[in-house]
Amino acid sequence: NLESKIYDRTFANCLMNASGVKCMTFDELEVLRTAENGSFITKSCTLQPREGNPSPRYIDLKLGSINSMGLPNLGFDFYLDYVLNENNRNNKNVFFSLAGLSLEENMEMLKQIQNSDFKGLVELNLSCPNIPGKPQTAYDFDRTKVVLEEVFSLYKKPLGVKLPPYFDMVHFEMMAEILNKFPLKFVTCINSIGNALFIDNETVVIKPKGGFGGIGGAYVKPTALANVRMFYKLLRNDIAIIGCGGVENGRDVFEHLLCGASMVQVGTQLMKEGTDVFHRLILELKEIMQTKGYKNIEDFRGSLKEL
Ligand code: DHB
Repeated sequence: NLESKIYDRTFANCLMNASGVKCMTFDELEVLRTAENGSFITKSCTLQPREGNPSPRYIDLKLGSINSMGLPNLGFDFYLDYVLNENNRNNKNVFFSLAGLSLEENMEMLKQIQNSDFKGLVELNLSCPNIPGKPQTAYDFDRTKVVLEEVFSLYKKPLGVKLPPYFDMVHFEMMAEILNKFPLKFVTCINSIGNALFIDNETVVIKPKGGFGGIGGAYVKPTALANVRMFYKLLRNDIAIIGCGGVENGRDVFEHLLCGASMVQVGTQLMKEGTDVFHRLILELKEIMQTKGYKNIEDFRGSLKEL
C-alpha cells in the first residue's frame, strides 16, 4: 500500500510530476490525470499566456537536465478551467502551480481561485530561476515573509510553496522560522539548482541567458535530500514535505520518503521516460518495501538512520 496523505487529502500513491514537466497543454494534463501517479500538478502559470524563452531551452544531459524555459504557459484562465473540471471527476487532488511575475499578479490569481469552486491544493512557486531580471523570491528572506503575509491575508484554501535549494545551515533555519509562522499545508523541496552552465564542444547547450539554466536529475539528488530532511526536521509537524529532485528509480523515491517526504515529484526522469515511469517506480518501491518488511509508507517515512 503506497497511500500517502497531505493535510486532509489522501493520495492513492506518493508519486506525481514535478511542475513544468508534461503539464502545460490539455493533452499532457489528461495523460497525467489518467496515468498511475497518485496526483499531478499543472505548469506554473501567469495571468497572461506566455511563449517563454527562445529554443533550445531544455536539454537532457547524461546526469540530468538543464532548462531555461521562461515560463511558457497557456495562461491562468486555461489552468483554472482545467482544474475546476478536474474537481468534478474522481479526482487525484490536483495541485495548481502559480508563478505570477509580481506579488500583485499572484494575489489576483489567488483571489480568483479563492472565489471559485477549486478544491485542490495550490503550490505557489517562489523559486523560478529563469526569468531575466526576476530574482528567485525565496532567496530573499524578508521578501518571502512579506509575500506570505499578503497571501494568507487573502487565501484560505490549502496552499504550499515551492522552494529553491538552500546550501547553508543558517539559511535553512532562517527560512524555516519564517515558514513556521504561516498556515502552510506543505513545502516542496527543491526546484532546480538555478543558473548553472553546461558546456559541450566549447559551446553552451541552451540559448537563453548565455547558456545558464536550472539543473535537475541525478546531479541534484543529494541537495534535494538535504533540503527535504532539513525542512522535515525544522518545520511544524503539520507542514508536509513534498520531495523533488533526482528521482530515477524506486530507491530514490524510498530515500526521499526516508528523509520525511509525504509525496515525491518526478521531473527530469519523467521528461526522459514519459508517464510509464510511474508504473516502474511503483514496482521498484514496492519491492524495496517488501524486502524490508514495510507495509505502508508511514512504517518508515522520516525514519532515516543517523550515526
Ligand atoms: C520555469 C522554471 C522553473 O524552475 C520554475 O520553477 C518555473 C518556471 C520555466 O523556465 O518555465
